[in-house]
Amino acid sequence: MNLYESFQKPLLFALPAEISHRLAVRALSLGMAPRYRADQHTQLRISLWGKEFPNPIGMAAGFDKDCEALAGLHSLGFGFVEAGTVTPNPQPGNPKPRLFRLPEDRAIINRFGFNSRGHKEFRRHLETWRSSERAKIVGVNVGQNKESTNAIADYSTGVAIFAPLADYLVVNISSPNTPGLRDLQSIEKLRVLLAAVREARDAVSSACPLLVKIAPDLGSSELEDIARTVQEFGIDGIIATNTTIDRPSILKSTQASETGGLSGEPLFTPSTKLLADLYQFTDGKIPLIGVGGIFTGRDAYEKILAGASLVQIYTSLIYRGPGAANLICEELAQCLAEDGYTSVSEAVGAKHH
Ligand SMILES: Cc1cc2nc3c(=O)[nH]c(=O)nc-3n(C[C@H](O)[C@H](O)[C@H](O)COP(=O)(O)O)c2cc1C
Repeated sequence: MNLYESFQKPLLFALPAEISHRLAVRALSLGMAPRYRADQHTQLRISLWGKEFPNPIGMAAGFDKDCEALAGLHSLGFGFVEAGTVTPNPQPGNPKPRLFRLPEDRAIINRFGFNSRGHKEFRRHLETWRSSERAKIVGVNVGQNKESTNAIADYSTGVAIFAPLADYLVVNISSPNTPGLRDLQSIEKLRVLLAAVREARDAVSSACPLLVKIAPDLGSSELEDIARTVQEFGIDGIIATNTTIDRPSILKSTQASETGGLSGEPLFTPSTKLLADLYQFTDGKIPLIGVGGIFTGRDAYEKILAGASLVQIYTSLIYRGPGAANLICEELAQCLAEDGYTSVSEAVGAKHH
């Protein structure tokens, strides 16, 4: 057992989940974090959209919703960090409790519902950080306000505001906790949305890659339609996947029936299957970010073989602790070496070749 498992984790797990989360974000924002180098393994470096990622393991969206802890998260050894989801106006999100641990299943259910301090405060934080740090990679994940009467405008505004500051932008159309939001994945609505966000991005900074983040609960024909539409509109990448509204029968924890999105170990198999299908539907032509249930370097490796150029984690940071990204990097480097790969990019999609 390491220090996190024997000491910090029992303390954090004794507190209500959201309080532990706030403590972790606060500690990271104050620089109270272990320091791991992100570029220790040269074979993990990967170049994408003209940017050099020191490793392919990223912090997924939803941990640093208000862009407060970028320096702390980077110091944990992540190759990149995605902040947000940020909404145009501040909003409180759903009533508490809205975050639940499922320890027997190594999973989490959340129904935060986009608690956000809004574009203005997020931008202030990002600008401050950017004034001293240009090299580290940060994605900005944008969403819509719950009470919005024009969701498309909410996304377009987010894209326009953050394009000059972000290394990539994510249009999040897959959160299960904002009523109607996932309907934006239906093809007619998606076309209108993608046309609008592309126009907004092109007007400001056509160099900033624009990605969409999708749900794991899509059917095969819906996924095929999305793959085609995303290519048609020249979108630069797809993040697969967000949390699931499904409740697999294998779940053992008492909290399993809470409403919200399920993440962690039970999400690994369905989200990796969807990722593999997506790689085939897009003929490997669009960079994919694989996320859902990654705990180990082997899990990250499986996502890469299925077609991911980059991967992200969230739930395993809670269960493995602040050393998670560093451990996953070490394990991944070993997996690549065992199979004779000298770089991550050689292994991307190799399962299909
Ligand atoms: C507490 C919590 C909050 C999240 N909030 C967001 C969010 O605001 N935006 C988003 O795109 N994804 C959000 N996610 C989804 C994660 O980014 C990720 O897609 C999902 O958790 C699957 O990865 P994991 O199994 O490694 O946790 C959230 C996940 C969790 C656990």
